[in-house]
Amino acid sequence: MIDYERFFSEESNLYRVSDIRKLLEVAKQKELISLGGGLPDFRIIDSKEVLDAVTTVIMNKGNIALQYSATNGEPSFIDALTEYLEKDVGLEVKENESIIVTTGSQQAIDITARLFLNPNDVLLLEKPTYVASLNAFFPRRPRFEGLEITSDNGISIDELENKLEKLKKEGIKPKVLYIIPSYQNPTGAILPEKSRRKIVELAHEYDFLVVEDDPYSQLTYEGEKPKPIKAFDEEGRVIYISTLSKVVSPGLRIGFVLADRAVINRYSLIKQALDLHSSTLTQLIAEELLRRGFHRKYLSKIIPIYRSRRDAMLRSLEEELGDDAVWTRPLEV
Ligand SMILES: Cc1ncc(COP(=O)(O)O)c(C=O)c1O
Repeated sequence: MIDYERFFSEESNLYRVSDIRKLLEVAKQKELISLGGGLPDFRIIDSKEVLDAVTTVIMNKGNIALQYSATNGEPSFIDALTEYLEKDVGLEVKENESIIVTTGSQQAIDITARLFLNPNDVLLLEKPTYVASLNAFFPRRPRFEGLEITSDNGISIDELENKLEKLKKEGIKPKVLYIIPSYQNPTGAILPEKSRRKIVELAHEYDFLVVEDDPYSQLTYEGEKPKPIKAFDEEGRVIYISTLSKVVSPGLRIGFVLADRAVINRYSLIKQALDLHSSTLTQLIAEELLRRGFHRKYLSKIIPIYRSRRDAMLRSLEEELGDDAVWTRPLEV
């Protein structure tokens, strides 16, 4: 028997078994209704339309779909994403900006960690935050500075300002704030517009970058969709990460980053080393689905289902736990 431990790199020791993976194992049990894994519900999916989209891609663009493609993504898909960002998300891709397609937004977070974090660099992040992001951050060995989620409105901007001042007094400049401002995972908190604007101002004042992770803003149950922090960014401080996982399908493994071209060029160099490019086939399928408005039809059917589940959950919490616990009320009006 070989003892492989002595062959493993120091960095590989910093990777942990993903809590999400463990959670998904548990979620498979039949008697359990899991609310933990962030799994979209596909019972209402229009399989015929998906099949038709796949067939159209293979029949009409098979030579492109089955081939290697550009590291930053298939240009026609990037055009469709640009339109999605403008029409659905409310984000304009500016002249000096570009997009890179990643293999899920998980890869975007991993590349972000590789790109910006040296050991001991200060990383500001919500507490609690998305567990799988930590798996990408740990191996870079940053100094984590947590900002408590104090209410349904997410982190306290006063706490952020106090922390920034405290660090400044110690002569420390944080590099990156990683934040999930809309329907935060795991708390469901939503950062008000005033706080979003303030974060952009603070990033300028204290000279750090904001990495906005936004998988969920399209899953708005009532009222207006929240505007991403990126929408208030004139200077290029905000790196916007999102995904088609919750609005089309996580199986496609399509995420993306919108940022200044200079930043995207660096993402591209790292991505080349990781996997050359994300699947051309799933990019073209996603393009076809976006062009057909599949995501809008899917969301219009799934949102009422998610909303009624949230309401059932809040009712049960009230009935079962009453005064014994506190919880957030994700966008309850
Ligand atoms: C906050 C957040 N970021 C990123 C992801 C990763 O999603 P994907 O890699 O499927 O795009 C998730 C998935 O649940 C998430 O909740």
